[in-house]
Amino acid sequence: MASLLQLLSVSLLIICCSSASADQTPKHYVVYMGSSAGETAESEHLQLLSTVIPRDERERIYLTNHYNHALRGFSAMLTDNEASELSGREGIVSVFADPILQLHTTRSWDFLDGKPNPKLKRGSYPPHQSSYDVIIGMIDGGIWPESPSFRDEGMGEIPTRWKGVCMEGADRSKMLGVCMEGPDFKNSDCNRKLIGARCYNVVQTSNGNTTATQTRLDKSPRYVLKTVVPALTYPIAIGAFHAEQMGVMVVCSGGNEGPDPYTIINAAAWIFTVGASNIDRDFKSSVLLGNGRTFQGSAINFSNLTRTEAFPLAYGKAIAAKYSPVSEARSCYPGSLDPEKVKGKMIICFDSFPVVSRGIKKLVAEDAGAKGLSQNWKHKPAPVVAYFSSRGPSLLTENILKPDVMAPGVAILAAVVPKVEEWSTLFRRKPSGYAIKSGTSTACPHVTGASAFVKSVHPTWTASMIRSPLMTTATVYDNMEKPLTNSSGSIAIPHETGAGEIIPLKALNPGIVFETTSEDYLRFLCYYGYPEKTIRSMSKTNFKCPRKPSDDLISGINYPSVSISRLARSEGFRTIKRTITNVGLPNATYTSVVQAPMGMDVKVSPKKITFVESVKKISFKVRFDGREASTGYNFGTLTWSAGSCSVRMVFAVNVV
Ligand SMILES: *[C@@H]1O[C@H](CO)[C@@H](O)[C@H](O)[C@H]1NC(C)=O
Ligand SMILES: *[C@@H]1O[C@H](CO)[C@@H](O)[C@H](O)[C@H]1NC(C)=O
Ligand SMILES: *[C@@H]1O[C@H](CO)[C@@H](O)[C@H](O)[C@H]1NC(C)=O
Ligand SMILES: *[C@@H]1O[C@H](CO)[C@@H](O)[C@H](O)[C@H]1NC(C)=O
Ligand SMILES: *[C@@H]1O[C@H](CO)[C@@H](O)[C@H](O)[C@H]1NC(C)=O
Repeated sequence: MASLLQLLSVSLLIICCSSASADQTPKHYVVYMGSSAGETAESEHLQLLSTVIPRDERERIYLTNHYNHALRGFSAMLTDNEASELSGREGIVSVFADPILQLHTTRSWDFLDGKPNPKLKRGSYPPHQSSYDVIIGMIDGGIWPESPSFRDEGMGEIPTRWKGVCMEGADRSKMLGVCMEGPDFKNSDCNRKLIGARCYNVVQTSNGNTTATQTRLDKSPRYVLKTVVPALTYPIAIGAFHAEQMGVMVVCSGGNEGPDPYTIINAAAWIFTVGASNIDRDFKSSVLLGNGRTFQGSAINFSNLTRTEAFPLAYGKAIAAKYSPVSEARSCYPGSLDPEKVKGKMIICFDSFPVVSRGIKKLVAEDAGAKGLSQNWKHKPAPVVAYFSSRGPSLLTENILKPDVMAPGVAILAAVVPKVEEWSTLFRRKPSGYAIKSGTSTACPHVTGASAFVKSVHPTWTASMIRSPLMTTATVYDNMEKPLTNSSGSIAIPHETGAGEIIPLKALNPGIVFETTSEDYLRFLCYYGYPEKTIRSMSKTNFKCPRKPSDDLISGINYPSVSISRLARSEGFRTIKRTITNVGLPNATYTSVVQAPMGMDVKVSPKKITFVESVKKISFKVRFDGREASTGYNFGTLTWSAGSCSVRMVFAVNVV
C-alpha cells in the first residue's frame, strides 16, 4: 500500500500482489484523507495521533508513512478502537488496515540453470521509432539489481520527469524504520534500465508485543515480504484510483485462486485485471536413445548426467506404484510411482493431468530417485486458461466483466533473487538467477509491457484508451484455430478469459476506443454505494451522484466490455449505452455484427456509425432481450469493423 501511494510520478504501474485482514493490539493502519490537493504537514498528523493514542504509549505517535503525492494521509500503528475513533474525524475519509500483500506467484515453479537462453525469448516486437520514454513501476517482493535482466545496454537516457529515488533521499529520519541507502543497496545499483528502487516501511504486527511490532521486516529493496494474508482489495483499489487520476495506468494480477468462480480480485473498474494462460513454448531438450535416435521433448535436466552415460527409459505407467491408477502414473501424479522401479531410470510423463504442474512432476520423479524427466507435451493448444487463474464474476460487482484479459502466466522464465534452494545443494548446482514461474503475477508484466508498448506509440493516450484496444483486439482463438479452452478442455467463458489473450501488435491500431473517464469512475463509486461526500473528497470535485444510485447502473459506465448481473425475464430487456472515440482515419464508417447466445435477442442502434473530421465521439445502444434466453450467464460479442480495424466488445448477461 505504502508503495502504491508514493510511486505516482510514473506513467505506468504494475502491482502484482493482492491483499488483506483484521483485536486491540496495535496494527498498521492507513489514515486516508482524500485527494492530495493541499498538503498536510507531518506535525499535523502527529498532533492528530496524539489525540487518540494514550500518553503511556507515546512511542506509537509516529508516522510509518506519510502520503502526499496523489492522495493525502499517513500510516501509523493503531488499535482497532483508535482507528474507528479517527475515522469519524473531520477531514478523514476513511481509516483502513494496511495489510501485507500476497504475492501472486509460484503455484508451480521449476529451476533453470544459469544464464538466459536466447531461444527461450518469446514474442519480441519490432523496435518502433517512438518506443521510449515510458516508465514502468513495479510493486513486488524484491529486486536483484545484478540480474543480467537489468543490464541497460541499448537504453536511452532516464526520462527527465523521473523524480523517484534509488534508495537515496529516502531518509525521513523523523520516522521510525526508514529505508535508506545501505550496504546492500546503493544508488550505483541503479542504471538507465532500473532507474529507481525503494522499500517501504513494513511493521510486524502478529505477536501483540508493541515493542516487537515496530521491528522493520525489510531493510532494502532486495528482500521479499514474507507474511501472507488473504484478499481484501480496498487499499489497492484506493491507491489505484488515485494513480489513475494522476494518469498512471494500473495493471494487476487477478489472483491464483482458480478454477472456482468468484475468485477474481483487483477488479475495480480503473484496474486492468489480468488472468493467466499457458503459452506455446516448451523447454526443449533432446533425449538420445541407445539406438542412436534423438527425440525432442519438453524436459528438464536436473541431475549431472552427461552424454556418455546411458540409463533405462521408462513410461510412468510401467513403473506405477501398487494400487495406483495407470492414468495417474502416466502423468507422474504424486504418489503414483514405485520408487524401487523409478530408481536410476529416465522417466517419461504425459501431460494428461494438467493439474499436476511440471514442478510437482519433477519433484515426484526426483523423490523417487529418477535420473531425468521427459514430458510429452507436443501439439498442445495454446493459449489455454491456466488452472489456477482466478475466475470471474467479481465479488466486488458483477456489473463489470473481469478479468479483463489474459496473458502468458505459466512456466515463464523470470529473473529471480538467487536463493540457495535445497534442491540446488542436493544437486550441487549454483543458485540460479532465473527460474520458471507460474502465476497471474507472471501474466501481469506481459500486459504491463504491452501497455507500455502501446503508450510509447501513442504517448497522448490515457490509461483507458490503452486498455481498450488490448481488450477489443484480444484473441479468443488458440494456435489450433479453435476457440480458447480451459485446462479441462471445455470452451472457455469470458469469466475465465476476459476479452481474450492480448495481441499487443493488433492493439496499436484499433481505429476506435472506449474511453472510460474520471466521471465514469466517480459514477462507479456512487453506484457502488460510496457516499457523495466521500467521493467529493476523494476527487476534490463537486461531483453529484445520480438520484437513485444502484449497483446495476455500473453496467452503464463506458467500459470496453458489458456485464449485466441480473436481467429478469419479467423485465424483458435492458438497454446499455456505450460511446466510442475515433482514433483512426478521420473519415470512417463502422458496421456492427452481433454474435448473440441462443435465445437472446441483441439489437444495436445505430447499426452503422460514420465518423467525419468534426465528429470524434459517437454513442450507440445495445438492447439485450432475455425473455427467450436460458437462465444463467449468456455470453456474446458485438464487433465494430471498418477496413482492417475490427473492435470486439464482449458481453455477459445473467438471465434470472
Ligand atoms: C517484547 O519484545 C521485546 C523485544 O523483542 C522483548 O524483549 C520482550 O520480552 C517482549 N515482551 C513480551 C511481553 O513478550
Ligand atoms: C472448464 O469449463 C467447464 C465449462 O464451463 C467447467 O465445467 C469446468 O469446471 C472448467 N474447468 C476448469 C479447470 O476451470
Ligand atoms: C553429481 O556428481 C557428483 C560427483 O560426480 C556425485 O557425487 C553426485 O551424486 C551426482 N549427483 C547426482 C544427482 O547424480
Ligand atoms: C545436464 O546438466 C549438467 C549440469 O548442468 C551438464 O553437465 C550435463 O551435460 C547436462 N546433460 C545433458 C544431457 O544436457
Ligand atoms: C473526409 O471527408 C470530407 C467530406 O467528404 C472531406 O472533405 C475530407 O477531405 C475527408 N478527409 C480525409 C482525410 O479523407
